[in-house]
Amino acid sequence: MLVLGIETSCDETAAALVTDKREICANVVLSQLDEHAPYGGIVPEIAARSHIEHLDGLIARAMKDAGATFGDLDGVAATAGPGLIGAVMVGLMTGKAVAGVHDLPFAAVNHLEGHALSARLGDADLEFPYLLLLISGGHCQLLLVEGVAKYKRLGTTIDDAAGEAFDKAAKLLGLGYPGGPAIERAAKGGDAARFDLPRPLKGRKGCDFSFSGLKTALLHKVQALEDGLDNTLRADLAASFQQAVADVVIDRCQNAIKSFRAAYPDGRFLVAGGGVVANSLLRARLKTLAEKSGLSLALPPLALCTDNAAMIAWAGIERLSLGLEEDLNAVPRARWPLDSTAAPPPGVGRAGKLGPKA
Ligand SMILES: Nc1ncnc2c1ncn2[C@@H]1O[C@H](COP(=O)(O)OP(=O)(O)OP(=O)(O)O)[C@@H](O)[C@H]1O
Ligand SMILES: [Mg+2]
Repeated sequence: MLVLGIETSCDETAAALVTDKREICANVVLSQLDEHAPYGGIVPEIAARSHIEHLDGLIARAMKDAGATFGDLDGVAATAGPGLIGAVMVGLMTGKAVAGVHDLPFAAVNHLEGHALSARLGDADLEFPYLLLLISGGHCQLLLVEGVAKYKRLGTTIDDAAGEAFDKAAKLLGLGYPGGPAIERAAKGGDAARFDLPRPLKGRKGCDFSFSGLKTALLHKVQALEDGLDNTLRADLAASFQQAVADVVIDRCQNAIKSFRAAYPDGRFLVAGGGVVANSLLRARLKTLAEKSGLSLALPPLALCTDNAAMIAWAGIERLSLGLEEDLNAVPRARWPLDSTAAPPPGVGRAGKLGPKA
């Protein structure tokens, strides 16, 4: 089965061709970073217009890289949410058009399911059920993954996502965007013990996360510097911040492992997905945790951590293989939780209106 995947939920335009034998025949990603940089953040209108400008060219490039024609395809998968609604619409409509014109099965993929299943693209031995840490720019959740389209949320962030916290911390330290890689680079050679930063929710029951207090504490440390920031201070602050995030994530994962064991005594895998999994300290800490807990750790390769269309094509393959095909009426969604039955996290307004993206 050869499937074309399309991703346009945020500021990356991406197309990929993947087979059900886990072969990535093409995987092209175009970042819009430079287009948004002058505005200090992502501008939804610019994102949508840029996807329109580039997506058809990227699909043509992916087809060429794979040496395939539309006639070779067995299906099309496109991200249908969650994300910036105008941006999602571009990829979803394009995917539907290709599927409609070539009479192909179509999968409307939840972007988060792309992250959730991405480790299975690289690892044929990774079986359900598994415990998933989904840690990205817009989300930070722990989930029981019981199968394709079967998710139970154990916990989520009650304020910022981890990637968002990295991005805000980097901005504060004058390290640029995207913040995660910038903090990681700056932290190399930094002293992680120099600044005493809080570990929000560490030691508490449950699997929820919180990062906003950590971000504010970092701000106070910077404001307290009498002579301002220099590169040594930047490195030490970045290292201290990164260490605090890793400590919190590992603590929350420890609680989630207990819940996973209670639900699935024979469950074997700890899996992570999302852009923050590119962080090498976090990868190392997760490896140690998995070893200590007697679980096998499955992490996507670095290129499949941040947004890409290969993970969307793969999620499409998983869905289409199970007959989870959509008609061409699939709608774009700005919000789309993986576990629609999960209650809003504590601290969120009763209607859940102040909560994180999903
Ligand atoms: N090496 C790294 N260390 C820490 N964070 C990182 C690293 N590399 C990328 N990130 C973070 O990952 C995030 C991007 O991940 P991803 O592309 O999965 O998020 P998104 O698609 O914007 O959000 P979502 O998937 O929740 O909709 C950014 O916040 C970025 O700072
Ligand atoms: Mg993402």
